[in-house]
Amino acid sequence: MFEQLEMAPPDPILGLTEAYSKDPNPDKVNLGVGVYKDASGKTPVLDCVKTAEGRILAEESTKGYLPMSGSPDYGAVVQKLVFGTNADVVTNGRAATAHTPGGTGALRVAGDFIRQKRPDSKIWLPDPTWANHKGIFAAAGIPAETYAYFDAASNSVDFDAMANSLRGIPSGDVVLLHVCCHNPAGADLTAEQWNTVADVVAERELLPLLDFAYQGFADGLEEDAIGATNMARPGSELLLCTSYSKNFSLYNERIGALTVIAADADAVEKVMSHIKLTIRTNYSNPPAHGAKIVTTIVNDSDLRAQWLEELKAMRDRINGMRSLFVDTLAELGVQRDFSFIKQQRGMFSFSGLNKDQVQALRNDNAIYIVGSGRINVAGMTEDNMGRLCEAIKAVL
Ligand code: LMR
Repeated sequence: MFEQLEMAPPDPILGLTEAYSKDPNPDKVNLGVGVYKDASGKTPVLDCVKTAEGRILAEESTKGYLPMSGSPDYGAVVQKLVFGTNADVVTNGRAATAHTPGGTGALRVAGDFIRQKRPDSKIWLPDPTWANHKGIFAAAGIPAETYAYFDAASNSVDFDAMANSLRGIPSGDVVLLHVCCHNPAGADLTAEQWNTVADVVAERELLPLLDFAYQGFADGLEEDAIGATNMARPGSELLLCTSYSKNFSLYNERIGALTVIAADADAVEKVMSHIKLTIRTNYSNPPAHGAKIVTTIVNDSDLRAQWLEELKAMRDRINGMRSLFVDTLAELGVQRDFSFIKQQRGMFSFSGLNKDQVQALRNDNAIYIVGSGRINVAGMTEDNMGRLCEAIKAVL
């Protein structure tokens, strides 16, 4: 049986990392996978994480299983980070959180739950969206459609088209929304636009599935959560997938969460009973370490303050690279207007480079970019900027 198999196609993002790792060119640049790099090109362990890990190691007294939904302390921290301490969803018990292995784990658990409990629902994804969304929901057996989101001509959200698209979605379907730092477009909704989206979702009786993997990478913790807080209106129902890979730089700890918001505490308890079954048949219960790190940091005022500074430093460095990239291209005499990249937020932007140009950058310069033209700005450094921009000028 095995001999008859064809090779599977490489993953458009992680497959690129595999190819990059094998490339012997000492000057290679990886702008593919969404991983933060510091000014020296390394993905750092945050200082607050190192301190928290020291405490955890000293205090840990068991390696016993966690509950299927993970540690309740971690669940409380997740809700506090997204909604704040006094939000009604937190205080009145209509939110419940399951700790999942990464944001991807949260999306897959949500997908399995939707497939089982709303078997006739489709999921609507923004056009474009994270390359893995389609794969996750296909694996869960949910048919996917797209709604309008990004206008390549203006490099921004086409909100009228988006709102019209959303208004056409059949009631009962699921709509996936990126809360901030849209992956791959880097273009987000304004607070007012979130209001409209929340109105449409309520009118059409859609189930929102919020993907929130970059909290703190756009403008700040609270500012970035505005889409989630807006959608969690009284009586609303939603599924929220969060990740702490990026904002705590905990990529290989696989630390994420699925939070359910229901109309009241009774309903949320019922939903969680099904979510727990889904978890049990996927990975039984989550790994503990990443959750302990996040919980220790957020619940300690000094560590939390240190984390917020380190998070701001990551955000500021990315925004600095956005400016330097645009300015360097202009200094090199590149005619195309890349100034939109300065306005966008998070790790990603669509460069507008086509497939052939992306391939040429890889073949001729060992510069790795996702086939769609998505660039990870966080992979740029002052050291690789000149070479990168010269190469882009050449392929343009
Ligand atoms: C990305 O989009 O590059 C990240 O979310 C990492 C991944 O798993 O694809």
